[in-house]
Amino acid sequence: MCGIVGYIGPRSAQDVVISGLRRLEYRGYDSAGIAVGSDGTLSARKKSGKITHLDEELAARPLPASHQGIGHTRWATHGGPTDSNAHPHLSQSGRVALVHNGIIENFAELRAELEADGVRFASETDTETAAQLLGRLVDEGTPLAAAMRQVAGRLEGAFTLVAIDSDDPDRVVAARRNSPLVVGVGEGENFLGSDVAAFLEYTRDAIELGQDQVVEITRDDVTITDLDGSTATAVKPYHVDWDIAAAEKGGFDWFMRKEIYEQPRAVADTLLGRYSASGELTLDEVRIRPEELRRIDKIVIVACGTAFYAGLVAKYAIEHWTRIPCEVEIASEFRYRDPIIDPMTLVVTISQSGETADTLMAIRHAREQHAKVIAICNTNGATIPRESDAVIYTHAGPERGVASTKGFLTQVVACYLLGLYLAQVRGMKYREEIAAVMDELSTMPEKIQRVLDEGQQVLDLAGELRDEHSFLFLGRHVGYPVSLEGALKLKEIAYKHAEGFPAGELKHGPIALVEKDIPVFVVVPPRGRDQLHDKVISNIQEVRARGARTIVLVEDGDDEVLPYSDVVIRHPRVSTLLQPLVATVPLQLFACELATRLGHDVDQPRNLAKSVTVE
Ligand code: G6P
Repeated sequence: MCGIVGYIGPRSAQDVVISGLRRLEYRGYDSAGIAVGSDGTLSARKKSGKITHLDEELAARPLPASHQGIGHTRWATHGGPTDSNAHPHLSQSGRVALVHNGIIENFAELRAELEADGVRFASETDTETAAQLLGRLVDEGTPLAAAMRQVAGRLEGAFTLVAIDSDDPDRVVAARRNSPLVVGVGEGENFLGSDVAAFLEYTRDAIELGQDQVVEITRDDVTITDLDGSTATAVKPYHVDWDIAAAEKGGFDWFMRKEIYEQPRAVADTLLGRYSASGELTLDEVRIRPEELRRIDKIVIVACGTAFYAGLVAKYAIEHWTRIPCEVEIASEFRYRDPIIDPMTLVVTISQSGETADTLMAIRHAREQHAKVIAICNTNGATIPRESDAVIYTHAGPERGVASTKGFLTQVVACYLLGLYLAQVRGMKYREEIAAVMDELSTMPEKIQRVLDEGQQVLDLAGELRDEHSFLFLGRHVGYPVSLEGALKLKEIAYKHAEGFPAGELKHGPIALVEKDIPVFVVVPPRGRDQLHDKVISNIQEVRARGARTIVLVEDGDDEVLPYSDVVIRHPRVSTLLQPLVATVPLQLFACELATRLGHDVDQPRNLAKSVTVE
C-alpha cells in the first residue's frame, strides 16, 4: 500500500504533488519522491524516511518550475526503504518516470528479459521493471498511453502505475489493476491520486478507474481506455462530500473500521507473488539454506499482543502440516525463563510494526543461542526483520488503529505460508496438497468480503449489548485463539471485561463466571472434524443451561447449533485451519462498533500505544 499523486495544470506541480503526498502519508511513509517534467527533461528527487526528508532534499536541490508531475509515498514491499528504492523510477534513457502501488508478481522474469537486453537496473524494486518496459517502448516511438496499455497487459499482480514522458509535457498517464486510482477533475487542470484525499483541496469532482483501465489526463481532458485501446464504458463521475480527515479514512469514522474493511485486499496482497506457476512457494528474504531448514527439530514462535494470538493459530497449522513441534511464547516471558533453544531451533517472530522491544530482545537472545530466526512483519526494513535470518512480509499496508485487525489476518496468512513452505522444503506435503491449501487461501478474500457485507447484524448486536459489563468468548482448536483475539479487541477499545477461554476448559473453573444473560460468544468449528464440532455444541449447552446469552459463530448450513443459540452469526464454509480468517472478522466489527457507541476514541484507546518500543 503506497500513496500516489499525479498532476497536470497551471499550478506548480511540485506544490500540488507534495501537498497530495502529505494527505496520503497514512498509506505509507517509509520513503517519498517526486518527478517533474520541464523543457524536455525529467527531474526527480527521492528520499527514504518521511516526507520531511524529501522537503529537506528539495530545499537543498530545488526542482525546476513545472506543471506536470508525479509523486509517491512508499510502504516498501520489494526492496528495503532506501533512497534508490524510493519512487519515482526512471527508465534507462531518463525519458520516462514512473510511480507504482502494488506488487508485480512476474517482475523477476521481466527483469531478466530486460537485463538480457542490456538494461541496467538502479534499484531492487519490482516497480523499476515497469519503468524500464515503458521506457523501452517510448524510446521506440510508442506514445506513452499506448505504451502503458502494453506494459499493463504484460504485468501480473496488483498495480497502480502513473507515468510521465519528458517529450510529452502536456500529459500524465496511469493504469490500474487491483490497486486504487481516482481521477480528480478540475477546471483547466486534472489530478490523479490513490484516493480523493490527494486532491480534495483543489476539486471535489472525481472519477474512479475500473479494473485494467488506462487513463490519460491533460489540462482539459480525461481519456479512459481499456487495455485493448477501446474507450472505456461505465465510467462513473461522482462528487465528494467528505472533508479531508474523512477522506483519509476512506469515509469511515475510524482508521480501525477502515482497516477491518481493507482485509480482503490485505489478505489478497499478502498472498500475491508467493506461488509460482510450477507450484513452488517462495518467501521474501530467506538467508537460511534449505538444508538448515530440513535439520530444524523445533519451532518457537514469539510475539506480543494480537501477534501472539496469530502465533497460536500458526501452531495448529504448522504442526499439522510439518509435524515439527511448535511452541508459542509471549515475547516478554521468553528470554527470562532460559528457554531451550539451539542451532536446530527455528524461532519465528511475528510483529506488525517490527519494532516491539520485547520481541526484538527475544530474537537477540535466540540468535545468541545460534537459533535461526524468521520474522513475519508488516514493516519493510524495520529492526526485527533486519536482525532476522529470513523475512515474510505481510502486505497489509500501514495500520493506524492501535487495535490490530488487518495486521492479525495477514499475520495468520503469512504463518500459513510459512507452514506450507516448511512442509515443501522438508518434503512433508505433496505438491498437490500444498496446491489445494493455496487454492483455498486464494478464495479467502472473497469470503472475508462476504462476512463484511453481512456485518450489519453484528453492528446491531453491539447496540443491544452496549451496556453489558462482562463478555466471554469460547473456542476450541484454532477457534480458541480467535476467542482470545475477540476478547482482546473488546478490552482494548471498549474497556469491557472480556475473557477468552478454550471451551473445554470452561468446566474447570471459568464456568463460575457464567450468570444470567451474560453474553457468551462461541466459535463453532466447521463440521469437517465432527468430534470437535460436537464437543463445542455440548459446551454451548453447558453455558446456556446456566443462563448465558449465546452468540454463536458458525459456518453456513450448520443448523445443529440452532436450538442452543440466541444469536447465530454465519460465515462462509472453510476448512477448520483457515476458519480464523473469517471468524475473527465479526468479532473485530463488534468491538469497533461497541466502542464507537460508547463514545470512545477507537483509534487511540487509553493507555495503549501502537508500537511499544520499551521492554
Ligand atoms: C502493542 C499494540 C498491540 C499489538 C502489540 C504487538 O501492544 O497495542 O495491538 O498487537 O503491540 O505489536 P507488533 O507491532 O509487534 O505486532
